[in-house]
Amino acid sequence: MPELRQTALELLACTNPKTKVLGVQKLFDDYHRKIIDLNTLNVLNSRGLNLPGRPLKPELIPPLDVPKRSMATPEGRVSLLHSLAHIEFNAMNLALDAIWRFPEMPVKYYEDWLKVSKEEAYHFSLIEAHLQSLGFAYGDFPAHNSLWEMVERTSDAIIARMALVPRTMEARGLDAVPAIRDRFKQIKDNKVVEILEVILRDEVGHVLIGNQWFNFLCAKENISPIQAYKELAIAYRAPSLRGPFNLEARKEAGFTQEELRLLGT
Ligand SMILES: [Fe+2]
Ligand SMILES: [Fe+2]
Repeated sequence: MPELRQTALELLACTNPKTKVLGVQKLFDDYHRKIIDLNTLNVLNSRGLNLPGRPLKPELIPPLDVPKRSMATPEGRVSLLHSLAHIEFNAMNLALDAIWRFPEMPVKYYEDWLKVSKEEAYHFSLIEAHLQSLGFAYGDFPAHNSLWEMVERTSDAIIARMALVPRTMEARGLDAVPAIRDRFKQIKDNKVVEILEVILRDEVGHVLIGNQWFNFLCAKENISPIQAYKELAIAYRAPSLRGPFNLEARKEAGFTQEELRLLGT
């Protein structure tokens, strides 16, 4: 029987976005049909694999070189959607990475990240289909890679990964998406509004999963989540948090009152 974490690694290395999306959906279904094993103890290695597997395009450029996008032009809006597609592509990759890389977690941890990977695959396919309907495709614009860079930087410690990827990088999406959605609402682009609503709803769940596992790891090591986060953010050079914050969504995503109070300080 195929094994969940090994298959997640193979899908992470897969370079074709469409194959990767279909593979993730199939992995989720097969796991829940109980025709995929889960070995939580195996230490897997990625020798010889280029991670994440990705198509030749988009070209990756430093964040500061990404051209400024004006929402006032169709071209600017398409390029914004393209950057969201790239984030969702890497979000799918980061969920697969959380599954294969870190052994010895409870079964629920792997099931949670499998669910995240399936939802990210769906988000990517929604945006990609919309780009296609506008005559564009994933790869047509350059993209920056800061999300994946934080994934790589936190490959040596699951507690850093949980602290800084879902509950820092993905949590920024909770802050950013409502404003983008409202601008598409203004121009009555209902299809994009609908897609962004789905993304926002699911992302609350992803950040919640990050919070739950981060708190689990802190409890296991008997350290304070607030103190641990402070130290990890410095040690791993996390971007500093800048408002405005979507406090309601962050609260729903499991941040405590104390964490919300400390935001941006
Ligand atoms: Fe997503
Ligand atoms: Fe996500």
